[in-house]
Parts: sequence; structure tokens; C-alpha cells
Amino acid sequence: MKACNTIASPLCSLLLPILLVFATALSLANAKTYYHDFVVQATPVKRLCKTHNTITVNGQYPGPSLEVNNGDSLVINVVNRARYNLTIHWHGIRQIRTAWSDGPEFITQCPIRPGGSYTYRFTIQGQEGTLWWHAHSSWLRATVYGALIIRPKEGDSYPFPKPKRETPILLGEWWDANPMDVIRQAMRTGAAPNVSDAYTINGQPGDFYNCSSKDTVIVPIDSGETNLLRVINSGLNQQLFFTVANHTLTVVGADASYVKPFTTSVLMLGPGQTTDVLISANQPPARYYIAARAYASAQGAPFDNTTTTAILEYKTAPCPAKGLSVNPVLPSLPAFNDTATATAFTTSFRSPSKVQVPTEIDESLFITVGLGLNNCPPGTRARNCQGPNGTRFTASMNNVSFVLPSNFSLLQAHHQGIPGVFTTDFPAAPPVKVDYTGNVSRSQWQPVPGTKVYKLKYGARVQVVLQGTSIFTAENHPIHLHGYDFYILAEGFGNFNSKKDTSKFNLVDPPLRNTASVPVGGWAVIRFVADNPGIWIMHCHLDVHIGWGLAMAFLVENGVGELEALQAPPADLPQC
Ligand code: C2O
Repeated sequence: MKACNTIASPLCSLLLPILLVFATALSLANAKTYYHDFVVQATPVKRLCKTHNTITVNGQYPGPSLEVNNGDSLVINVVNRARYNLTIHWHGIRQIRTAWSDGPEFITQCPIRPGGSYTYRFTIQGQEGTLWWHAHSSWLRATVYGALIIRPKEGDSYPFPKPKRETPILLGEWWDANPMDVIRQAMRTGAAPNVSDAYTINGQPGDFYNCSSKDTVIVPIDSGETNLLRVINSGLNQQLFFTVANHTLTVVGADASYVKPFTTSVLMLGPGQTTDVLISANQPPARYYIAARAYASAQGAPFDNTTTTAILEYKTAPCPAKGLSVNPVLPSLPAFNDTATATAFTTSFRSPSKVQVPTEIDESLFITVGLGLNNCPPGTRARNCQGPNGTRFTASMNNVSFVLPSNFSLLQAHHQGIPGVFTTDFPAAPPVKVDYTGNVSRSQWQPVPGTKVYKLKYGARVQVVLQGTSIFTAENHPIHLHGYDFYILAEGFGNFNSKKDTSKFNLVDPPLRNTASVPVGGWAVIRFVADNPGIWIMHCHLDVHIGWGLAMAFLVENGVGELEALQAPPADLPQC
């Protein structure tokens, strides 16, 4: 039982660096540059009664929160003292002209080898709200991640009353194992990797797990105040429902764009997504659970069905009398497969006012996203074919299972004109038109491996229909595009039908996001203008699916003049 009204130490260690950076920020003039060192190293971390040699940044799990204002620049020197290849991705940062700092391994850079280092440099341009950073190499991001908070420019204010306090809420997944071993084993066997053993809030599983309750995160609040929770799904493989007992949440932002405020009692976030919510302390002073658990949309697939909690604690909450426990109030969470609640939430998002959605389209793509199963060629050892019925799991976009290059990053190959690293024939439509969400014939289950990009002219107006498939199983896919925010015009179930579904497009105030939840057995339509030159990966943010190939990349050409061109590569860019 924890001491009453004491702020748990994990929260302090999370907030202290934030406060320090913030204090320096206030004393400086406009548009600042922040310098950070990220030392990536194995650190003993004890969770669920057991200590693991966890890969962390600066010994912190989760890693440090970065705090900046819109317009500021970040210079982060990453030193790899771990025994794995490493890159860091600044999830949701547009990286205008600075694709070299985007971070996905073998896409925009070769990995930082053990013992090596690389300095990421970028400027935040026109983004406000909550983003995050994470490793983008194999499964390192299971523990290598942190918040990236962007406040309005100095002198600007939030489009909502200034919250009394702000708290980042990083939802994560914990394996009682080395996550790198978990994915390695799955890649060897062809089977699905083990699911996590716990979810976490700011690195702590909470009261419902063994050896955890003494470290449960406390989020303080005072009667009458309104606070901002910056909720981030930094989990690896699981969409999550999130709620706070007895409190209504007012959604004001997502993926570092503001939204038209709406109220809800539950959020659903796919990995990669962020949601900013206001919470008012208008309930009797007490302790209330903040909780998250799975939204598991794939029928019959195993998932981690545990629940992580933190505690929203009113300053004046009655102290439990000695020997008595005043249990926090329990929230109710939707059922694991409650797609209706997930959909009601994702379709509530609007931009704050009328926006400029491209109406003429230069490039119209229809991209299927889903799983597959590869038959094992005769002679393959059974232990390498442990997917369903002796197969190996795979995944694809438009039947191409994405393969990372190994000698050069795609961006280097593009910039230096190195042939043979990728081809530019990613198809704008699937090879055959079938009932994608119905009974897809088995002949469609084995995608073709390839490193294919889709070329876009600078300034092209792009529409992509993301169509989920029911190959092996239908499920919700959080599709993330690097280097861009896109408008989500509509989503629906079944097969997208341009004749009837185009009328559902919101061309007035669609939400601007970097990660779209493509509904289970359904579709979503996104639009963006290709005004950022470089190579940008678009992938499912369930890490298990990336490894299987659920990705593709856009090659966006330079426009006219320096301001529309990719910068030169930095001198310390890691070589393969
Ligand atoms: Cu947060 Cu490539 O992703």
C-alpha cells in the first residue's frame, strides 16, 4: 500500500527533466534550438517481479520527454551503447526537407551500429500537440520510446482554456522476456510472436499485476482544476481502449493537430496514435483508476487481455485509515471486441474549422492491407514453418510484401542514384480485384516479396484508399505515413465502393492525422499533398506486421529550387 498523497517517484523522474528544459525555454527568445544526448544502453529494469537488461535511453524507461514550442529545432546526438543496431524515429514530425533525420532503418538511413552515433537535426514546422519518438529497428521500440511535446509558439495560446497541469500518458507493452528474442524467435519459426505480459502507463503496469502496485503511477489533480492528458499509444502490437473512472474526457487534439472538441468516456488508440484530452476534477475528492486494455479486433487471435492502471488522485482525497485501504474507483471498459465503440470514437474526429482538402487528385491509389500465409517450399524444416497449417506468416500492401534493403538506405540509393536497391513499380491497385473482405481465394494468400516504391511528383495531390483484407483474418490496422499528415475523408466496413462511398467523403473539416485506424474488414480514405521530398515509408504500426512486410514507401521527387529539395545528407550519416 503506498503512502497517501505522495507522488510516486516514477512520475517525478518523468516530469523533472521536462520542467528543467521548460525553464530554460522560458528564459530564451523565440525559435530555440535544443540539444540532447540520447545514450542507448542496457539498464536493469524490474517489472512483474523480474529484472531484465532493458534497452533504454539515458537509463530511463520510458525515455526522456522532449518539450519544445512550434518553430523550435532539435539536435539529438544518439549514441548506441547497446548490442543491437539502432535508429530513432520522431513519430509524426514532418521533417520537411530533412528526411535524413526521419529514422526508419534502411529507409532513410543505415542503422547506427553498436558503438556508433548519429545526430538527428530537425525543425518543428506548424505542428502543435503531442507526438513521440521511438526506436525504428526491429522490436527495440518496445522499451526505447518517449514523449515529444510541442507547445504553441511563445505568445500563442492553446485553442482551449489553459490547463492547470499537463501529464503525458505513455501506454506501453511489457514482455517478461527480451523483446528482441521474442521477435527473433517468431521470425525463425514463421509463427506469430508471443503477446506481451503487461500493458504499462508511463512504464508501470499498475495495481492488477504481480509485484507492481507499490509503483503504480499517480496522476495528481485538485478539485476544480482542468488538466491536459497527452495520451500516446506507444505499445508495440495492440490497439488500446483508455478511460478514467467517473470522468468525462474532452478530446482537443490528436497526432499533433487540434480537433473540434468532443466529449467521450473512452478513447481508442492504435499504436502510433496520440490523443490530447482535457479532464476536469468535478467529482468527489477520491482516487480514480485510469485504465487501458486491448481493443482486439482479430477474431480468435491471441492477445494480452490484462489491464493496466494508474491512479487519478485528488489532492484532498481522504487518507485511508491505518490498515484500511481506500480502493480507487474502478472504471468500466468496453469489451475487447467492441468495434462499435472503437468506430464511434474514430469517426468523431473533425478539424477545428473548414480546411483546404485537395479536391482535384493527381494520383489515386487503392492499396490493400492485410496478412498472408506463405507455404513452405518442400524440404523446409518443420520448425521454420510453425505458422497455421505448417505455413509462415507474411503480410502485404497490394500483394507486395515489403523487404528492407541491406546495403544502402532507400534514401541514399535515391539521392546518389545507386541502382538495384529498389524499383519504382509499386502498383497503384491490387493485382486482381476480388471480394477483399469476403472469402479471398487461397491463391491470393501468398504475396510477392519486393522493395518497391511509388513515385510522386513534388506537389502531387494524392488520394489513397486503404482497404483491409480478410486474408487469414481481418483486423484493424493502424496505418502510419512518415513525413506527412493526411486528411481522413471517410471510413467504412466491407469493400470500398467508389460509386456509393465517395458521397461519404468529408471535404469540409476532416481530421488531420499521421496514423489512420483502418477498420476491421473495412477501409479508410486519406488525402495529402506530396510537398515534402524524400522517401517516406507507409506501414502498419503493429510491429509484428511490419516485420512480415505490411509496408510500402513513397518516393517524392524534388520540386523547383532549393526550398523544394531534399537537403544534402549529413556528414555523420551511418553507412551500412
Ligand atoms: Cu511510429 Cu514508422 O513509425
